[in-house]
Amino acid sequence: MSEEKDMSYSDAIQKASSSITRFPLIPVRGVPLMCHIANNWDTIWDFCPDPSDLLIATYPKAGTTWTQEIVDLLLHNGDAEACKRAPTPVRSPFLEIFSPPPIPSGLDLLKKMDPPRVIKTHLPFQLVPPGFWENKCKAIYVARNAKDNLVSYYYFDLMNQTQPEPGPFDSYIHKFMQGELSWGSWYDHVKGYWLEREKKNILYLFYEDMKENPRREVERIMRYLDLSVSDEVISQIVELTTFKNMKENPMANYSCIPSPVFDQSISPFMRKGEVGDWKNHFTPEQSKIFDEDYEKQMKDVNIPFRTLI
Ligand code: PPS
Repeated sequence: MSEEKDMSYSDAIQKASSSITRFPLIPVRGVPLMCHIANNWDTIWDFCPDPSDLLIATYPKAGTTWTQEIVDLLLHNGDAEACKRAPTPVRSPFLEIFSPPPIPSGLDLLKKMDPPRVIKTHLPFQLVPPGFWENKCKAIYVARNAKDNLVSYYYFDLMNQTQPEPGPFDSYIHKFMQGELSWGSWYDHVKGYWLEREKKNILYLFYEDMKENPRREVERIMRYLDLSVSDEVISQIVELTTFKNMKENPMANYSCIPSPVFDQSISPFMRKGEVGDWKNHFTPEQSKIFDEDYEKQMKDVNIPFRTLI
């Protein structure tokens, strides 16, 4: 069954390959989104989840897939085989994604699943369909420090043939600072969820904390979900979700998305999985400009980001 699902999802992408292009961005309430998302915005906004559904929200490249895998394993008591039933985007659909037919949209996949579902989104807080908050759904937000997030996104935009061309790294830094990349401003994104986290009962996690002490963060997620798994199962989940193991897991490493969309020969989806890789990419001058702008954009909040651990 899982193989059948896997085949059909990959096949659908393969079949759509002649319509795959680097899609232009169209602003939705000021947030640049891939045109297929913007063109279906009303349907996305009207999506009404079940109260038992869980939302995993992130700015792109902040640790979404890692968190999806941890949650799926927690929900399956660490059963590795159960969590290989289908690739990540089929097990845990991407709420707002719309692509050329016959690729199923996130909403198509969700319609076929019974709640409780684990739903991924990159939408900033203000664009999350209000049904999530009306139904008091649980939500996990994962944030990653801006510089590593930017570097990871740059490599992703090189390899993801549906995203706008990233261009040279230096101009990419400016696009990031100005909120011109898909899903908009990183600064507004991390702040939006931070400011709502208490009122909306959002579990706000940091990629750097997950790297530093994965066990502690897996346990935090377990408690938030009101689950109770044994210490032994926690250890197993930590092991199954190391960068190395997920990189080798065909159901977690996005090898399900064929090369007309994800060209992993340019850069693998599971690229480095480290904290501090920005040091290998930013020149001291770029870092200075970025830090000065960061101070301005983040002056109204105190979110404890770490750029090194
Ligand atoms: S996406 O496309 O937005 O859903 O991407 P996302 O999953 O949020 O982010 C991808 C980056 O997360 C890294 N990653 C991991 N790091 C550590 N441990 C584990 N298990 C793990 N799984 C994924 C992945 O390598 C990307 O980061 P970079 O820095 O590019 O390597």
